[in-house]
Amino acid sequence: MPFLLRFREHWVRPALFFGNNPISLAGGAITTASGATMIAYWVTELLGRSESNPYLGIIFNLILPGLFILGLILIPIGIYFRHKALQRAGHIPAVYPKVDLNDRIFRHGLDIVLVATIVNLLVVSVASYRGASYMDSPQFCGQSCHVMHPEYAAYQISPHSHVDCVACHIGSGAQSYFEAKVDGTKQLFEVAFQRYPTPVPSPVRNLRPARIICEGCHTPAKFVGEKLLVRSSFADDEQNSETQTVLVLHLGGLDGLSHLTGIHGVHLGHIEYIATDPSRTTIPWVQRRSSDGSATAYAASSLNGATPQGERRLMDCIDCHNRAAHTFQTAEEALNQAMQAGAISPALPWIHKEGLALLKADYTSQQDAATKIPAALQAYYRTANPTVLAAQATQEQAAARELVKIYSENVFPDMKVTWGTHPNHIGHQSYPGCFRCHDGDHTAKDGSSITQDCAACHNLLSVDEAKPKVLSDLGIQQ
Ligand code: HEC
Ligand code: HEC
Ligand code: HEC
Ligand code: HEC
Ligand code: HEC
Repeated sequence: MPFLLRFREHWVRPALFFGNNPISLAGGAITTASGATMIAYWVTELLGRSESNPYLGIIFNLILPGLFILGLILIPIGIYFRHKALQRAGHIPAVYPKVDLNDRIFRHGLDIVLVATIVNLLVVSVASYRGASYMDSPQFCGQSCHVMHPEYAAYQISPHSHVDCVACHIGSGAQSYFEAKVDGTKQLFEVAFQRYPTPVPSPVRNLRPARIICEGCHTPAKFVGEKLLVRSSFADDEQNSETQTVLVLHLGGLDGLSHLTGIHGVHLGHIEYIATDPSRTTIPWVQRRSSDGSATAYAASSLNGATPQGERRLMDCIDCHNRAAHTFQTAEEALNQAMQAGAISPALPWIHKEGLALLKADYTSQQDAATKIPAALQAYYRTANPTVLAAQATQEQAAARELVKIYSENVFPDMKVTWGTHPNHIGHQSYPGCFRCHDGDHTAKDGSSITQDCAACHNLLSVDEAKPKVLSDLGIQQ
């Protein structure tokens, strides 16, 4: 076997000879140690004993593979320097020390080198695959870096909590992957040097078009039809009096004859607008293109006929569903919802008024809120209504816990995210939303305007009524 012989003479022997230096030996040690640790971790993971701690993830999926490869790189570097040094001193042997394949110890040594190389190749490929997929996981995107905590907290309680961040934020294919990594590296430096913006700005400028992201899973051609919404709200009185609003939203879509109808049908693909502020809240100019190609422009009266400067955008899903995966609620919405669900008992006197005040008070951190809210609620009942603490202690404690939870899902003092930082464009009660355009003030040349007719969007079956009859007619409620 002349090939094997040559390989032994020209490669194995010199490598072993020059490899005997501190740098290469340290490299070998680093690689062996990190490789063994990673393999042990993968085995425990296969046995189902892994931790989902994001920092462990960083160590095992990014740092250890890095060390492993660093060790591998150190080996040839050490060999190179020793070769150089010996060459300079004129100590390179004409013939490298003979390695005798009959020597059992050496034969085993060679086997070990061979096996180690194969194992190393396997470890590198598994580690790089795992590193790449780990960087795509919501744990890595959302948890390992406190800058993302607000979005991650909102994401976990959203209908998209099982959709990976990268499904919406990074496209498929090598190019978007590469762009995202370049972008991510930049952001890593911003975080390391504390140069990141607080709060993280919205809208996200380089988000891919919604037609590509959202329509990968939701088809707008699906006819949604009518959607019933029931909303409870509680008053600031002693009984926390509950009233309900019931409405039917005309969502529509593409009907059986491919006609566009309703809220979904009428906007997609043919309405453009110009917003004059970064958050796309002030929209003085809108244009609708009809199926025959003709365009109608609607302008706010403040424009006096001019066309405003600003980003011109074709309306898509995100112009209404801008908080699809990260809905930050208003304090009112969150409190009403928790009371309707019973997590905060409406039987606690004045809890709506007190709870709202506690949610909206100033705290220096989430930790601060977590200690002050329960203490303040207890102090309130102790002075105003001590019987509550005696008779409804469990409810009072549960209410305090829930208030802390609501606060921690919506307010992040370290990231300057507070009530109202990220407006939601669906609806028009808490934020301008639909009324950015449907405010009755956007008029076309022919005098028509973008409708503000309540019935164009929904039928209001009941507005803030106590025990609305329609809910008992529908069998939803007694
Ligand atoms: C269903 C799609 C979707 C998923 C899944 C998703 N996002 Fe988003 N994200 C969006 C949209 C849409 C916006 C707002 C874009 C806009 O208004 O232009 C956004 C905005 C953001 C912003 C900018 C600040 C803000 O609040 O608007 C951050 C940061 C962010 N997302 C992080 C994450 C992280 C971290 C995850 C995973 C834990 C994630 N996103 C998962 C769709 C998604
Ligand atoms: C990877 C698939 C996927 C992508 C991408 C995706 N969604 Fe979803 N979406 C889902 C799933 C799954 C649900 C939950 C359905 C359920 O719970 O019934 C959902 C639910 C929703 C809902 C209903 C929420 C509710 O309150 O019931 C809306 C609205 C929505 N998505 C909008 C969007 C928008 C806008 C985008 C683009 C920014 C988007 N989705 C991207 C999979 C996806
Ligand atoms: C003009 C505003 C607007 C646009 C544009 C829009 N939606 Fe919606 N969509 C709504 C409203 C309003 C609702 C009902 C919200 C609610 O349930 O509170 C809704 C509800 C939904 C739902 C939930 C339906 C259900 O059965 O509960 C999905 C899914 C959805 N939209 C997906 C999309 C996708 C995907 C796009 C883009 C192709 C899109 N929407 C574009 C306004 C819009
Ligand atoms: C960027 C501007 C813009 C925003 C934001 C917007 N719309 Fe529209 N909407 C339009 C325009 C333009 C028309 C077409 C006007 C017309 O045909 O008279 C329209 C038409 C409609 C129609 C049909 C009206 C009719 O008379 O048939 C409905 C329903 C509607 N929008 C609902 C909504 C809802 C709900 C929202 C918020 C979730 C919303 N729109 C947000 C621009 C907007
Ligand atoms: C351009 C469409 C549009 C028009 C016009 C409109 N609304 Fe709405 N409205 C909505 C949407 C969309 C929602 C549901 C938002 C959501 O899912 O939270 C809503 C929700 C509501 C709610 C319930 C809010 C809650 O959460 O309790 C009330 C009350 C309401 N609208 C009243 C009105 C009245 C009164 C008018 C007429 C002056 C009107 N709306 C005109 C789109 C519209």
